[in-house]
Parts: sequence; structure tokens; C-alpha cells
Amino acid sequence: MSINQNTAGSIVVTPVCDAIGADVICGDVKKMTATVFHQLQQAFHQYLVIRIRGQQLNIEQLLNFGRWFGTLSRGAPVHIGQKPRDEQYPELAIISNVIENGLAIGGLGDGEPVWHTDSSFNDIPPSLSVLYSVEIPPAGGDTGFANMYTALDALPKALRNEIGGRTIKHDKRFTSGGQLRPGFQADQDLQDSPGPSHPIIRKHPDTGRDALYLGRRPYAYVNGLSLTDSEALLDTLWSYATREEFTWHHQWRLGDILIWDNRCTMHRRDAIDPQTRRIMHRTQCHGTAVISGM
Ligand code: SIN
Repeated sequence: MSINQNTAGSIVVTPVCDAIGADVICGDVKKMTATVFHQLQQAFHQYLVIRIRGQQLNIEQLLNFGRWFGTLSRGAPVHIGQKPRDEQYPELAIISNVIENGLAIGGLGDGEPVWHTDSSFNDIPPSLSVLYSVEIPPAGGDTGFANMYTALDALPKALRNEIGGRTIKHDKRFTSGGQLRPGFQADQDLQDSPGPSHPIIRKHPDTGRDALYLGRRPYAYVNGLSLTDSEALLDTLWSYATREEFTWHHQWRLGDILIWDNRCTMHRRDAIDPQTRRIMHRTQCHGTAVISGM
């Protein structure tokens, strides 16, 4: 697919499957115009994950592209054993399995980050994430996405009523790859663990649609329930959330940009062969307080 296929001012949008995601051809994103961006944003709200291929961006250019969507936020905290952030680019997070001088150059390692939505452990989680492939392995490291509007719609009425008005505590201690963040204790009762609480059904501030907002399965806790009841309710909700029919799995090429909406999607990643290298650059936009849906 060439990046030059769009004719002046109009983008080409092709859904990648029925569940979620679309390929967008919009030319070189370094030359984005307000007209093109407006169409891109419409596609984003319709398909929730946008893939733009064949781009060549340095760090500044990626951050400039991200700024079209809103104010960028500081990258997620590094984990134990990870190189400190480059303060020249506080809005950049490196996602990588590469180790240099005994330190990980980025987050998430070789493992298989579980289904999650980004940084829901913040009081105000990021609205969207932009991930750009800088170096990719010959195989592995595919990223899956799940549609949380359709997951919510699939819940039986009684279950939907049961979660209406309820909140989940989103534990701050671990990354989605399972790494402990500095300053936190691994061994802590979930009812007392650190992290903000957000409504399980969240209203999207731009589309007005309700979505399931689960954060991630490990260390989650449904406030007000016993631990046993919380685990049982979460297991039931998760059995809907990541059903095959709500998902799409993307195989990376060099120069791909993926933009996903953290308010109505979740994502996960396949493991990476430790003998290979994968380097991705990510930036995120500031969100707004999580509003409860119905
Ligand atoms: C992430 O979970 O934010 C990163 C996904 C990936 O590495 O593909």
C-alpha cells in the first residue's frame, strides 16, 4: 500500500474486519492538514483503531503528529530495571525488549502483555495512544485489539444491571507485562492496593456511547464486594470482553503507526523472541475524567 494514494484532501478508509480497526491512507502524516485530520478523526471514532502504514518519523515528528489529537501526556512510569526516561522527550515512551548495558531501553520486555487499556491506573487516563514501529522482529509481537462498545452490548441485561453504578479499582503497582513499578510493594491485599477507581461502564466523552472499562484483569478489584465475589464478577465480565468476535490482531511492518482509543478498546501483545529486537515509540494524549455510563 503506497502512502501517496490519497488524492488532495481526502483520505481512504478501509475497515480491516467487522469488529474493530481500519486502514487509513492519508499521505505523509508530517504534511497533515486540518481537512485531512478532520476525516482521520471521524474514522478514528468510527473504527476505534486506525492503522497508517509506510511512515518515516523521528521522535519530534511522531510527537508533532500526536499533538493533532490533543495535548500529549508524560510517558508511563518506567519499571524496575528500565533505563530512566530521556527528559528531552518526556512525552515519549519506548516499548522494547532490547537490553543495553544491563538496562531495558524501554518497557514491557519480551513477554506477553495481557489485555489492558493504557494507564487506567491514573486518575485521568490517556484518551488515546499512538504507537510507531521503529525496529521490528521477523515474527512475533503482534498487537491485538478488542472493541469495548460491542463487549458491553453483548452482556446479558441482568449482568449489565449488576455492574451499573459499580467501580473497579485499577491497581498502579504493575505494568501490563507484570513488571513491578518502583516504590510499590508486590505483596498487598487487593482491597488496600494503590490506584484510582473508575466506573465499569464508561461514557465516551466524544461519541456519547457507553463502553466496558475494565483496565486489566490481574490485580483488579470491584469496590464494595468481597474478594471472592469481586473475582467471580470480573471473571464473568472478562469472559465477554475479549471474545474472538470483538477482536482484531495486527502484524507490524516497519513504519506503521497505530492509534487506538483507550476509552473504548483494550489491547494485548504476543511475546517476542528474546534473540530478536523490537523498538516502538509511543505517545499518548491527555484524557478527561472517566464519566459513568448507564
Ligand atoms: C502496549 O501495550 O501499549 C504496547 C503494545 C505493543 O507493544 O505492541
